[in-house]
Amino acid sequence: MLMLGIETSCDETAAAVVSDDDLAAGKRLRANVVLSQLAEHRPYGGVVPEIAARAHLDHLDGLIARAMDEAGVGFDELDGVAATGGPGLIGGVIVGVMEAKASALARNLPFIAVNHLEGHALTARLVADVAFPYLLLLVSGGHCQLLIVEGVGRYRRLGTTIDDAAGEAFDKGAKLLGLGYPGGPAIERAAAQGDPARFPLPRPMLGRPGCDFSFSGLKTALRQAAEAAAGTDGYLAAADATGLAASLQAAIGDCLVDRTAHAIRAFQASHPAGRALVVAGGVAANNALRGRLAELAVSADLDFIAPPVGLCTDNGAMIAWAGLERFRLGLVDGLDFAPRPRWPLDPHAAPAIGAGVKA
Ligand code: KG4
Ligand code: ZN
Repeated sequence: MLMLGIETSCDETAAAVVSDDDLAAGKRLRANVVLSQLAEHRPYGGVVPEIAARAHLDHLDGLIARAMDEAGVGFDELDGVAATGGPGLIGGVIVGVMEAKASALARNLPFIAVNHLEGHALTARLVADVAFPYLLLLVSGGHCQLLIVEGVGRYRRLGTTIDDAAGEAFDKGAKLLGLGYPGGPAIERAAAQGDPARFPLPRPMLGRPGCDFSFSGLKTALRQAAEAAAGTDGYLAAADATGLAASLQAAIGDCLVDRTAHAIRAFQASHPAGRALVVAGGVAANNALRGRLAELAVSADLDFIAPPVGLCTDNGAMIAWAGLERFRLGLVDGLDFAPRPRWPLDPHAAPAIGAGVKA
């Protein structure tokens, strides 16, 4: 079975072709083309929705052609076309959904609207033999959630952020330290040179019951620490700049590990057959964090699965794969599907307290 996947919900324009061949054959990922719009957004220090939507429109046709070419398949060999249907920046989501619907209509193929978060959630099953149920830490620029993945389309949210997502904490921290955009990789690089104990930053929610996150206080604490450390000229000494990055990364890591430890206890109590902790989303590209979560999983007697870095940040393969999993269960969508700026994975989860929660 072969599926084309299209991702346009943020600042990556991406197209991929995946198959559901045996994992052992190593042929699932037929093509995975990602065009980052970093250069377009960098002058603004963040993603500008209107610029993103126009860039998707400019590049998507060409990227799909490249993915099909690299995969060596024609539209007639596809079993369906999947696109991110939300949540995300709505202008971009519309571009991807329209493109997918048009291709599906023209080629008489099924169209599958994929929840971007489900794409992240199921990526582990593209690259490893992971059975349901599993515990998922989904950490990206827009989301920070702990979910039990019971099956395709079946998610139980244990916790979410009450303000910023973990990726936002990295991005805002990097902006404050003048490390540029996107912040996660920049903080990780700087942190590798710094002392994580140099600045005593807070660990919001640490030790509290439940699995919710909070990161907005960290940003304020980081700014205060940076201002106090700066010389009269306003500049930071190199050891202070890298120390701040390392301290921020350590604080975010402590929060993620603490909350995930709580979630593991809840998961093992409610789903004793569960065998794995899976991490997904852009922040899961962070090596220091992967190491810490791997240790946590081992201590709880769980397998730890983290997709390769290129499949943690946004890509088309995750959408193609989730589309394929849905298609195999007969879950296809009509051409009347309306793109969704918000689309929670667990519709029964209570809304989190606080502003700025994306789903
Ligand atoms: O999943 P993703 O590509 O897009 C969203 O759906 O949000 O995640 C992007 C986020 C950004 O906040 C970026 O700073 C963060 O993932 N990120 C990282 C790293 N690489 C990307 N955060 C920490 N360490 C990294 N190495
Ligand atoms: Zn994402």
